Amino acid sequence: MSNDLFDFGERIDRYAVMGNPITHSKSPKIHSLFAKQTSQAVEYTAIQVDMGGFSQAVGNFCASGGKGLNITVPFKEEAWQLVSERSQRAELAGAVNTIKFDRDQIFGDNTDGIGLVHDLKNNHNYELRDKIILLMGAGGAARGVIAPILEQHPSLLIIANRTPDKAVALAMHFSEFGTVQGCGYGQLNELQFDLVLNATAASLQGEVPDLPEELLADQAMCYDLMYGAKPTAFMAWAAVHGASQITDGLGMLVEQAAESFYIWRDVRPETSSVIEMLREVLNNE
Ligand code: ATR
Repeated sequence: MSNDLFDFGERIDRYAVMGNPITHSKSPKIHSLFAKQTSQAVEYTAIQVDMGGFSQAVGNFCASGGKGLNITVPFKEEAWQLVSERSQRAELAGAVNTIKFDRDQIFGDNTDGIGLVHDLKNNHNYELRDKIILLMGAGGAARGVIAPILEQHPSLLIIANRTPDKAVALAMHFSEFGTVQGCGYGQLNELQFDLVLNATAASLQGEVPDLPEELLADQAMCYDLMYGAKPTAFMAWAAVHGASQITDGLGMLVEQAAESFYIWRDVRPETSSVIEMLREVLNNE
């Protein structure tokens, strides 16, 4: 019996997440739950890649028969450079978090923004249409979510950043997709927001950008794109300042993974049970 025949039906397709550091990545857990739930023959591992070794690592994974990759910090921009084809949302985000190897093509996509939108709409029952939205931060995390937010037709999106020029430049970059303006935190005094999204790295330092006391509209939602076992500093700020819904980015993490899984497998996993399971894992860490 030839090996081909012997292997037929037994094949497991291999995927991985690449980043540095990668030991705390939740992606292997999420994708193994998706694979089990959808009965897909998928193996998913985490690969730590040395700085300077990214393109080599991607080439090796592809050459060894790997089917696709997730890319995380700090390689998303390099992945954008590396791929041979990009989705429109990846093109605009300037970053790639999902790679699919397709014959001799390397297809790059970015599922972060749609992950945020799906989490808000499907898990929190929150519609973005006609809302006044504040996005804090103008780095890679912020840039990845702007086009998918504007696609939902908010009435206004303000991007605020510690370095205001970066927010202004980002707003200009996305201006053809909706009403979007950039500014510094000191210029937020006139407006009240329905939804405030924190895409800064301030949470990592336990800090909150300098925000006006009256920032939140009635029934405001506050969403931190970061997640952890404990509420972030921004989530604590939101509680003190009267937000009616407060959430972290765990749902976004699972939703962006679900979109990657769909790109690779053409099957949509159910996400709410996976978010619940991950929340438990996080609380027990
Ligand atoms: P990421 O890929 O996580 O977005 P990044 O591209 O380095 O990381 O961007 C970090 C973002 O967090 C930036 O918007 C940064 O503001 P600056 O552009 O002014 O540097 C913001 N940030 C980081 N620490 C902050 C803090 N303590 N307060 C306010 N904003 C902060």
